[in-house]
Amino acid sequence: MSLVRLQDIRKYFPVKRSIGEVLLRTSQSFVKAVDGISFEIKAGETFGLVGESGSGKTTTGRIVLRLIEPTEGTIEFDGKDITKLGSDEMRKLRKDMQIIFQDPMAALNPYMKIGDAIKHGLDIHNIGNTQSERKKLICEMLERVNLQADLYDRYPHELSGGQRQRIVIARALILRPKFVVADEALAMLDVSVRSQLLQLLIELKKEMNLTFLFITHDLATTKYMCNRIGVMYLGKFVEIGTYQHIYESPMHPYTKALISAIPEPDPKIMESKKRLIPEGEVPNPINPPSGCRFHPRCPYVMDVCKNVEPPLVKSPDDRLIACHLYTEKSAVQQQDS
Ligand SMILES: Nc1ncnc2c1ncn2[C@@H]1O[C@H](COP(=O)(O)OP(=O)(O)OP(=O)(O)O)[C@@H](O)[C@H]1O
Ligand SMILES: [Mg+2]
Repeated sequence: MSLVRLQDIRKYFPVKRSIGEVLLRTSQSFVKAVDGISFEIKAGETFGLVGESGSGKTTTGRIVLRLIEPTEGTIEFDGKDITKLGSDEMRKLRKDMQIIFQDPMAALNPYMKIGDAIKHGLDIHNIGNTQSERKKLICEMLERVNLQADLYDRYPHELSGGQRQRIVIARALILRPKFVVADEALAMLDVSVRSQLLQLLIELKKEMNLTFLFITHDLATTKYMCNRIGVMYLGKFVEIGTYQHIYESPMHPYTKALISAIPEPDPKIMESKKRLIPEGEVPNPINPPSGCRFHPRCPYVMDVCKNVEPPLVKSPDDRLIACHLYTEKSAVQQQDS
């Protein structure tokens, strides 16, 4: 059963116009941050979102939680269309859907004691009957994220970055949510702390039967965390599949390029590995390229790619891919057989 389902989601941010442009009545332009995506996350699954900076990952995560409104499309959560849910109903639902951001310092109020910061959610959602019961729940949760309960009375600046992110995780999970968006949640941490926290998230996911949208630049971590991975490019999916699909046999030229750019610890292998990341900048999402958005950077570009947008289609091995190269090949194979 799917816990989250997004259909035809678009998010266009209006670009601020200069006074000159307003006077000349030039038409309003938009940043097409997310430009027509559909996907679902099954209950208990972790869905990874990867792609270069600016591809629309954070915007997608925020839309799922309705922290920002989509320009178009529908969002379903737990079988219910929540696209137009009013703020009172949304507030109740927030207990079930939490987000963990990249920067724990920004997520925590510097003037609030750690214990009070965690208690805030319990107070709002009326979890625990008495104050002492709430304190007990918080101390248990602190211990569960491998922190000492006596951090309760400390302030965020007294903690290390890794400890602060454990607090943010504790604050989100104490509400027993069904769904968590982790947006680059481990990106600011040292490598060793990052792997400890990744391990913690994996354990908590199992114990609490959580469903995750896991947004990351660090492709290597998706191997351990994600059941399926969606590769985004300029507001669209180019490929969606399992770790095996995406890492061991990527089909889309952009996915291949991303995978080839993952650093390889063995220098011999790294040397022999062809780096496929194409030349050139990611194009501007105000005016994305015609046809396939990846075509100006694609080493396999064909004429059709410049004019026709490739649809996201299912391959026989059960992945989704949007590439004319693939569609053409499978058409030829069908003719031959
Ligand atoms: N509030 C906003 N107003 C205008 N443009 C925005 C806004 N938020 C995001 N954008 C633009 O939308 C596009 C997608 O941004 P988004 O933050 O979703 O990308 P991302 O994939 O999360 O990138 P990163 O990996 O750098 O976090 C970018 O071009 C960004 O500049
Ligand atoms: Mg982001």
